[in-house]
Amino acid sequence: METLAPLAYLVASVCFIMALRGLSHPESARGGLMYGMCGMGLAVLTTLLLPNVVSYGWIVAGVIIGGTIGTIIAMKIQMTALPQLVAAFHSLVGLAAVFVAAAAFTNPEAYHIGVAGNIKVASLIEMSLGVAIGAITFTGSIIAWGKLQGVITGKPLTFKGQHLLNAALGGLLAFLIVMLCTTQSAFLFFLVIVLALALGVLLILPIGGADMPVIVSMLNSYSGWAAAGIGFTLHNNLLIVTGALVGASGAILSYIMCKGMNRSFMNVILGGFGGEQTASAAASMGDRTAKIGSAEDAAYILKNASSVIIVPGYGMAVAQAQHALREAADLLKKEGVKVRYAIHPVAGRMPGHMNVLLAEASVPYDDVLELEDINRDFAMTDVVYVIGANDITNPSAKNDPSSPIYGMPVLDVEKAKTVLFVKRSMGSGYAGIDNPLFFADNTMMLLGDAKKMTEDIVKALEH
Ligand code: TAP
Repeated sequence: METLAPLAYLVASVCFIMALRGLSHPESARGGLMYGMCGMGLAVLTTLLLPNVVSYGWIVAGVIIGGTIGTIIAMKIQMTALPQLVAAFHSLVGLAAVFVAAAAFTNPEAYHIGVAGNIKVASLIEMSLGVAIGAITFTGSIIAWGKLQGVITGKPLTFKGQHLLNAALGGLLAFLIVMLCTTQSAFLFFLVIVLALALGVLLILPIGGADMPVIVSMLNSYSGWAAAGIGFTLHNNLLIVTGALVGASGAILSYIMCKGMNRSFMNVILGGFGGEQTASAAASMGDRTAKIGSAEDAAYILKNASSVIIVPGYGMAVAQAQHALREAADLLKKEGVKVRYAIHPVAGRMPGHMNVLLAEASVPYDDVLELEDINRDFAMTDVVYVIGANDITNPSAKNDPSSPIYGMPVLDVEKAKTVLFVKRSMGSGYAGIDNPLFFADNTMMLLGDAKKMTEDIVKALEH
């Protein structure tokens, strides 16, 4: 088996690369997941058959307990709670990296990396980096989970000199790692863990709720690099490859999200965005009044349009309105209306959030267009149906330099003849800022739950 293992690991690595490739488009996502499952199945089976596995008892117990918990959570979880679930799972990857490194440090003979007190320096470096990144990932992910779940306030928790303190702790951590590699002291090893755990908390606390998805993706990247570091310690090529894939894809995803919000990565990391409404945005609302319409009004307007663009956002996901939405679109298409969907890169709360929901409701992929492919069409469109979206349509991003979202690319919905906004109130979106579009002359607010409102529009269209 030992001679076959590298080949099996190579096949598993190729499966993981194919999985990532498949997941890049909704049409190929299912195939991508199959590749991922096959790769993981092969990797686990190969590892279990290796001669250095001494007992199956603990492994079977772990698989049964972990598998049962994972299955129950996966079956119960709401789509809108996925970001916090991902954060919670990342914390476990970080913790696993810490445990493996601690096991290797205390029993190096078992890992063929030397003897206690005389571990190979290269292994010590890999191990200490793995344990530090793993510990930061562990506590950082727990704080990210708390913020997304609402257990901890989503507001940035800041104090004077915070960045200086974090920089000093980061420097101290690097120094302790160097000392650990030279002295092999067990005390320093555990001090590195404690310091990294504290740093994980301090790094994530000042970051506002609005930036959490980027942070979750960044922590995902960290957990990948921690796994890769441990892969070197364990001489496990598959762990190195898989860790690097997770690390690199997480970093790329963070970059894409930052680009979608027109923010630099440093700006996100240094925190302080999202949470409270800015004074300038609140004042700009004045005492203007908005036009409020009903489902019947909306049905009439939609039916008489020749082109409609639907802009889904986070509220559609909360209301699970995608099926009703597709029904309404089908009815309009029957009437000869051209219906398309415009997807903003950061609509919802995670990348691809809207695409997944629309695919679930069997919306044809060809009808779903990205921001850069559809933005110039709004000016030639009769009606835009904005369902549970807010920030991604906010024109302040284009014309108010004092707005926190200034510079973020937004969908030019206001250029259409009529804009219908479905949401429950005149309240703000995730960035916590008001949207002046609600008061525009060509806007009609449809106040209510996105699913209920769309179902009522379907009923009105049917009559
Ligand atoms: P938001 O700006 O958060 O607006 C969603 C709107 O949906 C809210 O104003 C809310 O208004 C409404 N809503 C909530 N539940 C509803 C329901 N049941 N029925 C009808 N409406 C409902 O969402 P968006 O426009 O999709 O923008 C996404 C935001 O998240 C951006 O600020 C973006 O930067 C941020 N973000 C996204 C990501 C990714 S990767 N997607 C990552 C980081 C940050 P009411 O309360 O009045 O109903």
